[in-house]
Amino acid sequence: MKSSKLKNILNNLDTKGYSVIKNFFPVKKIEKLNSLLTPNKKIKNNPLFHGGAEMIYNLQNINYEFVSIIFNLSINKICREYFKKGSHYLDKDIYQFDSMHSRILPEKSNSQDLHIDSRICGVYPPTHLHFFLYLSDVNEQDGPTQVVPSSHKIKRFPKISDKKKAKKILGNAGTLIVINSSLWHGSSKKKNKNTKKNYNFIIFKVAHKTDICSAIFVAKKYY
Ligand SMILES: [Fe+2]
Repeated sequence: MKSSKLKNILNNLDTKGYSVIKNFFPVKKIEKLNSLLTPNKKIKNNPLFHGGAEMIYNLQNINYEFVSIIFNLSINKICREYFKKGSHYLDKDIYQFDSMHSRILPEKSNSQDLHIDSRICGVYPPTHLHFFLYLSDVNEQDGPTQVVPSSHKIKRFPKISDKKKAKKILGNAGTLIVINSSLWHGSSKKKNKNTKKNYNFIIFKVAHKTDICSAIFVAKKYY
């Protein structure tokens, strides 16, 4: 990733709380990831959660294709620069992988309420980054992710009436959305029955390397 592109992403994250990177992964990689995601029909989905969205948790345990994304150089460049804020200048292990899951919306569904994932509104220095990777083309009808620009700086939680300020993020398969996890966000109304595959993961800041990171390095040997 060129330094000018990285600078632009970091600038967007600071000012708007999010950045959209088109064609982050090639089509072949997206197709491979898609082929690995088969919902487990035995698992009952909560119909109250986002129109019965199908969830596949712990993708890092399914296939090394997912683990390789955690080690993607560009993603790590973003994290390394972003989490310098508030970190001790001598500390090298300033962030760690947290979790990775897929969300599939098979039916029409109402919009998800705006929320934050960091659990702390308006927090600075930032505590978490959140990545959403579109695995299929996401248009207006498909229930795209929506965000309220610059809301990561607001020291309150979102209300229903804030939805009118939300901006939908459309994009082709392979689009990567990076957000400060204190940004107000949620999926918008899904108006068709096309299956939308959404793949998310979170990276959060820590002071020291922990057992989770070690476990991933150990697991790499067994794939
Ligand atoms: Fe969320």
